Amino acid sequence: MPPIDRSTSADVAVLRMARPPVNGLDRALRSELLGALHAAQQDASVRGIVLTGGDRVFSAGADISEFAGGASGAAFAEPWLGAVCTALASSPKPVVAAIEGACLGGGLELALACHGRIAGRTARLALPEIKLGLLPGAGGTQRLPRLIGVEAAVSMILSGDAIDSVRADALGLATAVAGSVLEHATALARRLAAHSGSRADDGAVATARTRELGAAALGDAAARLRRPSRAQAAIIEAVRASFERPLEDGLACERRLFEELLGTAEARALQYAFFGDRAAGRVDALPRDVAVRRVSEVAVVGAGTMGAGIAMCVANAGLAAVLIDSAPEALDRGLQRIEQTYRTAVQKGKLSSGEAEARRAAIRASGSLEAVCTADLVVEAVPEALDLKRSVFAEVDRHAKPGAILASNTSTLDVGAIGAATSRPGDVVGLHFFSPAHVMRLLEVVRTERSSDAAVATAMAFARAIGKVGVLARVCDGFIGNRMFEEYCRQAFFLLDEGALPAQVDHALESWGMAMGPFAVLDLAGGDIAWAIRQRRAREQPDQPYSRLPDLLCELGRFGQKTGAGFYRYDGGTRGRAVDPEVDALVVEHSRRIGVERRTISDDEIVSRCVLALVNEGARLLDERIAQRASDIDVVYRNGYGFPATRGGPMYAADEMGLANVVAKIARYSQGYRGASWRLSTLLESAARLGQRLSAL
Ligand code: 3HC
Ligand code: NAI
Repeated sequence: MPPIDRSTSADVAVLRMARPPVNGLDRALRSELLGALHAAQQDASVRGIVLTGGDRVFSAGADISEFAGGASGAAFAEPWLGAVCTALASSPKPVVAAIEGACLGGGLELALACHGRIAGRTARLALPEIKLGLLPGAGGTQRLPRLIGVEAAVSMILSGDAIDSVRADALGLATAVAGSVLEHATALARRLAAHSGSRADDGAVATARTRELGAAALGDAAARLRRPSRAQAAIIEAVRASFERPLEDGLACERRLFEELLGTAEARALQYAFFGDRAAGRVDALPRDVAVRRVSEVAVVGAGTMGAGIAMCVANAGLAAVLIDSAPEALDRGLQRIEQTYRTAVQKGKLSSGEAEARRAAIRASGSLEAVCTADLVVEAVPEALDLKRSVFAEVDRHAKPGAILASNTSTLDVGAIGAATSRPGDVVGLHFFSPAHVMRLLEVVRTERSSDAAVATAMAFARAIGKVGVLARVCDGFIGNRMFEEYCRQAFFLLDEGALPAQVDHALESWGMAMGPFAVLDLAGGDIAWAIRQRRAREQPDQPYSRLPDLLCELGRFGQKTGAGFYRYDGGTRGRAVDPEVDALVVEHSRRIGVERRTISDDEIVSRCVLALVNEGARLLDERIAQRASDIDVVYRNGYGFPATRGGPMYAADEMGLANVVAKIARYSQGYRGASWRLSTLLESAARLGQRLSAL
């Protein structure tokens, strides 16, 4: 099918973009659109033109895959998007955009260049370029402020967030309508055609008063950015041009800034992240026709920390949940936590009371495992003990209906061994949520040797249905995220042994971009959980080098935020952490006791050792085929561990550092303190030797 579907409605030409899957404005669509516009302009029977898209997507904007070539790549091949927008804006026959669904980035810029915009009930309008490290590059920074004012425009462009048709109407961006957008747009095109006179963009410089107002609004927006990123700074500069300069100059300024940003490391990393998030949803070697089972009711077994959060995820997605716990008081506590979470959301204005009530009502409670009998999916979240989980699964197996998917939220146990306690191991998978489950976007979907394709496909579809980023992992202790995190923490502890202090390590990694340093994360997660894992490791892998330091803290009852003290001290119920001189003294004393002469450690070394520990273990996971692809590992780290999206993820960051460089550093570290902890991944070593990139494997 050609990318533009042309039809006419009496004297109005309707140009419908039809480039699956999302009307990405690649070169073919841009050329075809421009050709169709010229043809309509030359057709004497046509008085007005309507530009529209599909029901679900008007247009997702520029084709992001064309950005790879930078300023000389396909994105700028003629006709480039800015030229198409200028052609629309200067059309002697009026053009009206009829918008349903997503109208994003370059898609909204097309609509802004039209002479009128009609938005239907499903319309979602945004300029999300900032999320790709860019600014709108086809007129958005110039036409939007001219249309809705600087304050509203800069807020939309800096946030990148979408607005609906009602908000667009209130802002003067589009006319919101119920019913057929095409009908309304056609009528508007006719009305506009009835008025003669130039329709070209108003290219004049703004009046002194408009300039004054614009400068004030922009000054406020800029003042709110504490340390502006390059894209934020560029947006401020371009929007300033919208009221200080004529349109043509403003557009030239915008294009220059767009080209500059396209080449930045941040923009490249964010574009990699965009495609990585989507690739994670694909399971290699899954037959195309695999039958995804319907999931409308989910049973959650265990109403503790995780179970209550998982039940909320289910209810928040509009599905029915049944929360089951064998201890009545635990079930009550779980329900109270759910109640409290929804109440707080209503108080903060994040949820209407009606919506909160509907979600509460979607969760029913039960004290008996028999209640799993109506569920399409059962998620077990009882304490981390293999025998307990196996007995729960055996009983769930007796009551669950045929075809139900049985999932465990285990963090470390063998999901295959849990599934073997049932008569249907093919229906068993792991669904590893992260805490707090109703907030964190990441969900590791664990496939055992015996999980069926249908169970895996259904679990991945369920992840998407509840708004999570599902990443497939095979069975191993810790799966992708926690197995890597253990190596990261191992290096963080060794750095303390050698001379660093907790606050220095956290500060170095947070300055580099991590949302939280490792010690702050451990305090948040609870030191007792990691302690139990270390005790198990000491039995299973007695030769594994590790620091005794965290055990010393646990022996003092310092389990982190929940006990008011861990690597830091937490006072007065606030989450703020304070450096605790007692911990610093304990760290120094520990070095003395193990005979290590403390040395000054640079922030660079801290970041390098911790991040390369992630990289090396990530490469081992790839080699063992626990993770499907390097970009999946990066998805896990961005969405579950606060890894900065502007650095892509650990595997992408390693590629950017150069794998030969990475391997040389690991070789050096393996000669240093507790160097035996570095077991260089053979895959990493061979990729470095062959000049490959991990993210391209
Ligand atoms: N360019 C290239 N591919 C795109 C794309 C785009 N702008 N938007 C989506 N896709 C691809 C996805 O990679 C995916 O491909 P796959 O099936 O091979 O994995 C496919 O389209 C479907 O996308 P989703 O899985 O995201 O589908 P959803 O239905 O969940 O969401 C959407 C649809 C809301 C349109 C979402 O894809 C989206 O938000 N897209 C990105 C929008 C965006 O960032 N636009 C700005 C582009 S930059 C720009 O316009 C610059 C301009 O100012 C010059
Ligand atoms: P928790 O101790 O808070 O809750 C467990 C609940 O299970 C308790 O309410 C208990 O009464 C109930 N329970 C015990 N035996 C039961 C049975 N036979 N039938 C029904 N209910 C039973 O535990 P938490 O922290 O929620 O962990 C649950 C699982 O999730 C564990 O496997 C854990 O490893 C995993 N996990 C925990 C994370 C965390 O941060 N807490 C993060 C990710 C996974």
